[in-house]
Amino acid sequence: MLSAVRRCYNLKPQVPRVRYLCSTTVPAGSKVSAHSFEDFVHKRQEEATRSVIVQVSSERSFPELYNYCRDYGNIISAFHYCVRHDDVQHYILLEYENAQQASEAIDSAAYNEDLTGVPVRSPFLWFRATGRKTIQRDTVSGSKTQLAALDGIRIMDNDALMGTLREAVDIEKQIALLYENTKLNDLGIRLRFLAASQVQQAISGMFPLARALPFGSSVNGFGKNGCDLDLILRLDEECKGPDSKKRPESRLVFHTKENLTNGRSQTQRQMESIGDMLHLFLPGVCHVRRILQARVPIIKYHHEHLNLEIDLSMSNLSGFYMSELLFMFGEFDERVRPLIFCIRRWAQSCGLTNPSPGRWISNFSLTCLVIFFLQQTKQPILPSINTLIRSAAPEDVRITEDGINCTFARNFEAIGFSSKNSNKISDLILQFFEFYSQFDFQNKAISLNEGRAVSKPDHSALYIVNPLEQLLNVSKNVSLEECERLRIEVRNAAWVLESEVENYQQTGVDKSQEPWGLLNLFKTPDKNIIRPNMFFKPRILEVSELFDNTETPPATKSTSSNTATA
Ligand code: GTP
Ligand code: MG
Repeated sequence: MLSAVRRCYNLKPQVPRVRYLCSTTVPAGSKVSAHSFEDFVHKRQEEATRSVIVQVSSERSFPELYNYCRDYGNIISAFHYCVRHDDVQHYILLEYENAQQASEAIDSAAYNEDLTGVPVRSPFLWFRATGRKTIQRDTVSGSKTQLAALDGIRIMDNDALMGTLREAVDIEKQIALLYENTKLNDLGIRLRFLAASQVQQAISGMFPLARALPFGSSVNGFGKNGCDLDLILRLDEECKGPDSKKRPESRLVFHTKENLTNGRSQTQRQMESIGDMLHLFLPGVCHVRRILQARVPIIKYHHEHLNLEIDLSMSNLSGFYMSELLFMFGEFDERVRPLIFCIRRWAQSCGLTNPSPGRWISNFSLTCLVIFFLQQTKQPILPSINTLIRSAAPEDVRITEDGINCTFARNFEAIGFSSKNSNKISDLILQFFEFYSQFDFQNKAISLNEGRAVSKPDHSALYIVNPLEQLLNVSKNVSLEECERLRIEVRNAAWVLESEVENYQQTGVDKSQEPWGLLNLFKTPDKNIIRPNMFFKPRILEVSELFDNTETPPATKSTSSNTATA
């Protein structure tokens, strides 16, 4: 394309202004409408292959960068974002019409002859200043492309968010605003898929079938702006499921290295090398830590051009399929995601969750609690996982290499579930707190597979049957003390929210009387206030029938030795 432009205008080849970012320090300078998870992931992966990230001195460089880079192809969108450390670094993501054009832009880039950095080809570039004065154009000539985002991954600070919620007309609107202002946005998703693409491209020479796939909150629809990226790296195509086109019965077969007999040691050794490769060669990657003795060995690293914490694993395919399941639950009903955001925010504000793992409940377990609640309402809002399993077709069969059966229907039409429950999200939140205020954590386990409470197979304080490995407990890490705190906090929350709803019904929202609604739910608890015990509130007792007909889960064994942390 560039050479064609040069021929046309008889231009001399330029000294490339877009340069590779090397792995040493460089100079300062709505949801995708996809119904199925596989479509969503595929679309985002493809989008990443059409994108490059260019470090610039500020957003004002955009017209010049655009005019320079459109020589390589048609730029269909552009986003600006900042990374703040000691100073502010500016970046622009350019999305080309096709991967070939992005590739041409990357191939045109130069290595900085002054830098001693490792010369690596990657989609991370920087835009150097020319010695001569350039004509600054306010508008991007010849195109309607404008920056679709300015400072596009900035996280709204808590005070600003609370101010926004205070201005809402009612609690329902507060919930919507919380969701809209805190969910991982389009640019955040693009950057995460670019991080995956960088790893995949880096090893593609030796492993052309390798796939680096984001999972967890980056893709399951429950991620916040700024959330970490969970990444699974597979050296073969297994992640694509049975559709992947295996080579026809070729008579030519690759010679390969023999696998170690112990699969775990093999993974650990491979991850060591991948960790070294990331650390030594990939631009932007820093603070690489190897946590290889964990149940799921991971490499943690920071990406300084994306402002992202990344956990890379190679053997957690069930985690990937679990993300698919969570994504589907979010797709079933539009109330699910805002509700989960609200509950996660509440749990964070009262200290039930904590960014580091420990004896407390994780966001993942909390999400399971919400999904379970929505499955067991009188008119269920979500189907049980067994319903999804029963509707599975042959193309839905997924068995991981360690034998975990991740087969469930992916096709919403085949599942054929629709809910008759028309409760507002604000009602559902209150019902959630009331439900868990009464839940028999001592004797019952939560089974998303059954969609109802079952007998607890061991003495864990909190027992959530792992949906994909039903002998395991997702929340085995939760201590008795933390489970007790959960019980107290759900009661407090029910009490607070009920008072808020009553006040609101009596007086309407008086914004001069701040804070109100969710703001009171998200307040750090005042330890001096003793709240009444919710068990004595008559209205709450109505939900007790929900615990009828509980059964032991079919696949559980009664000895705790069979139950490992999920
Ligand atoms: P945050 O990182 O807290 O934003 O949430 P997250 O959903 O990304 O949780 P986390 O990073 O802890 O886990 C990543 C993903 O791994 C989850 O979304 C699940 O899909 C999966 N996962 C986590 N824990 C388990 C587990 O015990 N069993 C299974 N099968 N999958 C899990
Ligand atoms: Mg995560």
